[in-house]
Amino acid sequence: MPTGLPATFSRRALFALAGGGALAAALAACAPGGGSAAPVPTASGSWAPPAEPIVFPKGFVWGAATSAYQVEGSVSADGRAPSVWDTFAAKPRAIRDGSTGDPAADQYVRYADDIDLMAGLGLGAYRFSLSWSRIQPSGSGAVNLAALDHYRRVVDTLLDKGIRPAITLFHWDLPQALQDVGGWAKRDTALRFADYAEICFDALGDVEADWMTLNEPKTHAYVGHWYGSHAPGLRNPDLAVAAVHHQLLGHGLAVQRFRESRAKGRIGIALNLVSAYPLAQETEGLERVDARENRFFLDPVLRGTYPDEAIGGLPGQIPARPAAFMLLQEDGDLETISEPTDFLAVQYYGVTGVDATGAEGSVAPTSAARWQQIRAEGLYDLLLRLVRDYPAIPLLITENGIPDPTPELTVDDPHRIDFFRTHFQQAARAIWDGAPLEAYYVWSLLDNFEWAEGYRQRWGIIAVDFETQERTPKRSAEWYAGVIEANAVAAT
Ligand code: FCB
Repeated sequence: MPTGLPATFSRRALFALAGGGALAAALAACAPGGGSAAPVPTASGSWAPPAEPIVFPKGFVWGAATSAYQVEGSVSADGRAPSVWDTFAAKPRAIRDGSTGDPAADQYVRYADDIDLMAGLGLGAYRFSLSWSRIQPSGSGAVNLAALDHYRRVVDTLLDKGIRPAITLFHWDLPQALQDVGGWAKRDTALRFADYAEICFDALGDVEADWMTLNEPKTHAYVGHWYGSHAPGLRNPDLAVAAVHHQLLGHGLAVQRFRESRAKGRIGIALNLVSAYPLAQETEGLERVDARENRFFLDPVLRGTYPDEAIGGLPGQIPARPAAFMLLQEDGDLETISEPTDFLAVQYYGVTGVDATGAEGSVAPTSAARWQQIRAEGLYDLLLRLVRDYPAIPLLITENGIPDPTPELTVDDPHRIDFFRTHFQQAARAIWDGAPLEAYYVWSLLDNFEWAEGYRQRWGIIAVDFETQERTPKRSAEWYAGVIEANAVAAT
């Protein structure tokens, strides 16, 4: 645990930092719902933040996140080969504005300028991903040293500026060569991933970094293999659950390689989790959605089991064949998948409502991303649920954010400031109530290629003009710099 951060922050310590009875009174009124083992999070909308700024624990890490395909561009530079996203984006009508990840935000070229911008904001950490098809163009075998040299320069430049690297090994951009032989639907891809991970640990494991094996295996499996609207564009729930199992197996194998490599730093997995609320008294449907969205990933990684409720023919389940899913699993897989990690990386975008049958519905307003129902209290409920239902583990929020309401380049973004303010307050509240939360990364540092939405959904705290690649910090970036400097979030 080389960050120097305590794994947990006591209520008393936060109180002492925050100072003042108003905070104590406000936070004292927000005790979590109790020790029930039910998957239903505690509804907690009634809490109000204290009038004075809430100070975060000393050493709390404030960061920003991106991913390789979304920002790098330079898709054929220095020996990079195509990934599934290059192939998918090139298909007619796959991407809403007909764009691809070329040139994205041109960060492969502009990384040093971007790191200067990060330093200007006072960021303590930068989360980015490595492009597997740069490092190992055919997904196995030969290593492309030019790519490793590039990422070495990125890491060294970050360290020069005092910014901790947070490195994701896989953010959905599988080498196309591996997809051509079955991709994550095949067990062999997990083994190839472990080899790739080892290459990365050997090349960059000498620096203090937080490593993440996978980014959101759920999104890659479901949206890419079941709904078909992300790469690789498949629509088969049996392949989706195979992609879950093999990604998680790859995760566990990579954690083993990390330990064997004696790399510095820490390792974990980045899971997107959602707080689900009942729309009816009867909660069986809710339990199925919770199993599909949360427990299908949390339980194997943190407990070494799969929940029975995630797969099947009922509403709220993944309509795959449970028996076929069982057959994918070999002895020892769940032990590998539950290999202990150093932290859990949580990605939180919002909530959902579920009726008695398992159908999802609206419980909160949406953003320009229609899948995003915004409720800051859902973050509190999620963090407290993790504390309540799973073995103790340090928590990092590695993504949270909101798009601009318009596709046009926007610098004035009060909606984003409100969003972050309310979510930071709920994070502080969760720390106060015992959640061992150590870091918060906003999504995203830059406007970028937002997958099937192309360039028309802007999530950055820094605006990018995709014609000129000019960067302009938004008002939210200035506001965030103030939060970072004070290590505190004000009430309004
Ligand atoms: C997350 C992805 C990230 C970005 C945000 C908006 O699910 O991990 O790449 O697309 O959503």
